[in-house]
Amino acid sequence: PRPVILDGDPGHDDAVNILLACSSPELEVLGVTTTYGNVGLERTTYNARVVRELIGASFPIYPGADRPLVVPRLSAEAVHGESGLDGPDLPTPTREAESLHAAQFIINSVRARPNKITLLPTGPLTNLALAFRLAPDIVPRVREVVWMGGSLDTGNWTPSAEFNALCDPHAARIVFESGVKLTMFGLNATHQAIANPARVAAFRQLGTRVGEFTAVLLEFFAEHHRERYGWDGGALHDPMTAAYLSAPELFGVQPMWVDIDTTEGPSAGRTVCDVWKVTGQPPNADVALTVDADGFFALLTERLGRYP
Ligand code: BDR
Ligand code: CA
Repeated sequence: PRPVILDGDPGHDDAVNILLACSSPELEVLGVTTTYGNVGLERTTYNARVVRELIGASFPIYPGADRPLVVPRLSAEAVHGESGLDGPDLPTPTREAESLHAAQFIINSVRARPNKITLLPTGPLTNLALAFRLAPDIVPRVREVVWMGGSLDTGNWTPSAEFNALCDPHAARIVFESGVKLTMFGLNATHQAIANPARVAAFRQLGTRVGEFTAVLLEFFAEHHRERYGWDGGALHDPMTAAYLSAPELFGVQPMWVDIDTTEGPSAGRTVCDVWKVTGQPPNADVALTVDADGFFALLTERLGRYP
């Protein structure tokens, strides 16, 4: 299996990404690193421990950045609730998080296994940017980065910007300029995968604790999407990163030059994608364009069904 580090801000969809990665035989989860984002770092770290407890997994958890590099910190309680995982009853975690910083864990891991490790960030890119700045030697030794964030077109937190990109545009720019092999799952892709009632029912019908937990999580997650967009479910953003590694045939990507707006105007945090190659810049990312949504949910349901 391919060794991966999940970096995120759980978060409903981050939590589902952890569940998917840990049940995918193609992947070996070396650790989960946490960042501020949907809620503060202390709570996202707690939530990662909750998910680990739920499935009895053994991966270590490393807390990382508690704020962006430059801009003030945002959070998304409006989407994820005060806890960041509102909805289901949460098991009380027993095992603690580690004391090593997330960025240092990433550095140590990549140095120990050069060209092997894939990073799956599903939140602001601050931890990756810190790691790349602290240890530039690791950049060419990361096998691949698959990030949920950005958008080819419109944003969700401002008209221009997606939440993870907007949280730390400077960090995003460091990662996009680094030369690392990078795939971006932005809103233009993730908004194609709506966890509608039929898809949620499929998780519930697994008849397991994980299936029920996921169903209740997604029912809470749907509320914001119903109010804001009028959709009949939440867009299941983050699990596309793990799904892409297990079943790349479900997704269509196109190489492009992507720049990040780090200015303070109305386009702050926008991922500017050069679809028509007008800049003449060489591509620095594969940008996801198409998603087989039924295939994606079928994969997810099958994988979550592997939990007893
Ligand atoms: C992203 O923002 C967060 O709220 C979600 O977890 C996802 O990573 C979508 O814009
Ligand atoms: Ca997230």
